[in-house]
Amino acid sequence: MLTARALGEREDEFMRLKVQGVLDAAELLAVTLADGREKHVFGRRTLPQMDLASASCAIQNLWLAARAEGLGMGWVSLFDPAEVSALLGLPEGAEPIALLCLGPVHDFHEEPMLQRERWARREPLSALVFDECWGRPSDLFPTPSFVEPA
Ligand SMILES: Cc1cc2nc3c(=O)[nH]c(=O)nc-3n(C[C@H](O)[C@H](O)[C@H](O)COP(=O)(O)O)c2cc1C
Repeated sequence: MLTARALGEREDEFMRLKVQGVLDAAELLAVTLADGREKHVFGRRTLPQMDLASASCAIQNLWLAARAEGLGMGWVSLFDPAEVSALLGLPEGAEPIALLCLGPVHDFHEEPMLQRERWARREPLSALVFDECWGRPSDLFPTPSFVEPA
């Protein structure tokens, strides 16, 4: 609800999307960053957020393994971290980053749901991959000369 409200004019549109399956999933896994992470300097001294990056890679690996086994997975992040921390009894300094809904699903979407529901469109790679410096188009992904119909 709070996310929907923060979106302003798209609130109604957001409320029509399914954004969590915590009550439906066969398994619900909570992924948290541990407490006392400041003592881990190796790999985090200049970019402390690399712990989040590492945990995200582990989640992605689980996601790929799940799909290879024919299972679905969804990452729910629309939660109040303080409430989830209290619910799980997390120690001071630990942070929940994901509630993973894992299990069998009825089917897999042919195209990403947000695209199918016209919430957003896939961006061309040319808008995301640059060459040598920010904003310089790459020869590998030329800017498309036409826009695909929705
Ligand atoms: C970091 C991250 C956070 C996400 N948080 C949510 C969320 O709170 N609610 C939601 O419906 N989808 C969320 N998603 C998207 C879904 O988990 C998932 O990508 C989408 O349902 C498509 O799944 P599929 O690729 O298996 O079809 C999140 C994805 C990422 C990568």
